[in-house]
Amino acid sequence: MTLLKLNDGNKIPSLGLGIWQIPAASTGQAVAQAIGVGYRLIDGAAIYGNEEGLGEGIRTSGHDRESLFVTTKVWNDRQGYDATLRAFDESVERLGLNPDLVLIHWPCPAKNLYIDTWRALIRLQQDGRVRSIGVSNFGPEQLERLIGETEVTPVVNQIELHPRFQQAELRALHDRLGIVTQSWTPLGKGTAFDAPAIAEAALRHGKTPAQVILRWHVQLGLSAIPRSTRLQGQTENRDIFDFALTEDDMAAIAALDDGRRLGPDPAFFS
Ligand SMILES: NC(=O)c1ccc[n+]([C@@H]2O[C@H](COP(=O)([O-])OP(=O)(O)OC[C@H]3O[C@@H](n4cnc5c(N)ncnc54)[C@H](OP(=O)(O)O)[C@@H]3O)[C@@H](O)[C@H]2O)c1
Repeated sequence: MTLLKLNDGNKIPSLGLGIWQIPAASTGQAVAQAIGVGYRLIDGAAIYGNEEGLGEGIRTSGHDRESLFVTTKVWNDRQGYDATLRAFDESVERLGLNPDLVLIHWPCPAKNLYIDTWRALIRLQQDGRVRSIGVSNFGPEQLERLIGETEVTPVVNQIELHPRFQQAELRALHDRLGIVTQSWTPLGKGTAFDAPAIAEAALRHGKTPAQVILRWHVQLGLSAIPRSTRLQGQTENRDIFDFALTEDDMAAIAALDDGRRLGPDPAFFS
């Protein structure tokens, strides 16, 4: 698996396992299984309710903690300086380890607390409690305000991104600012699996539509975090580093964007 360089000198894998909606009781098994087949990045969040399972999966995998990359996120109702510091302590307690990356889950502009929340993450990084800090679902205005007021650029902005919703402008801004784009719901709930650009590329390369889509993310220089609890799904999603999409494939997939989100609009979500 390839690694992407973060603007603080650390590195993040370009492929990871997302664990949203994996039941708490089976998260440990799903995480250990994924690590066993080669995943090194696990994307969690306090709101997913399965941080204990994430930590358990890391420990039972038997893999060296240093070779793994664990993300968690601060939920919306814990924004603000002191609340975020407490929320982080609680995540560490549940995980049984310190995460490598902590993200502000949503900007929640109506609360207007994301700057204070960010200052708390800066403090945690300065105190050596987390290696890297970033954001999720931030738009251009919020990114520019965050950087302008604190002079600390997030390493990652994790956003909804799949062939039907490609976020080209935001990706270009990330590139200018030195922020890695991480794609959530990278498979787009299967909405592009049957599109000729995907289905034909899959046939030609001897791959599945999901593999073509994940390869597209990786070739764009993104980090993608598909979720699968099935061993077959996890291995299928992993096997994307032994082929390359052509420029024509990439152009045909670029044309699939219809600008429609599958998830909430971050401008209003809180
Ligand atoms: N920051 C945010 O606000 C935010 C929001 C949403 C998600 N996320 C993160 O992004 C991760 C991924 O997003 P997601 O879970 O919404 O969607 P996803 O990874 O795009 O899709 C997951 C769904 O696709 C199925 N699937 C997985 N691999 C497949 C394959 N090879 N072929 C066919 N179906 C396949 C899974 O079922 P099986 O389990 O049966 O394989 C599951 O139903 C989350 O788990 C979470 O970590 C973050």
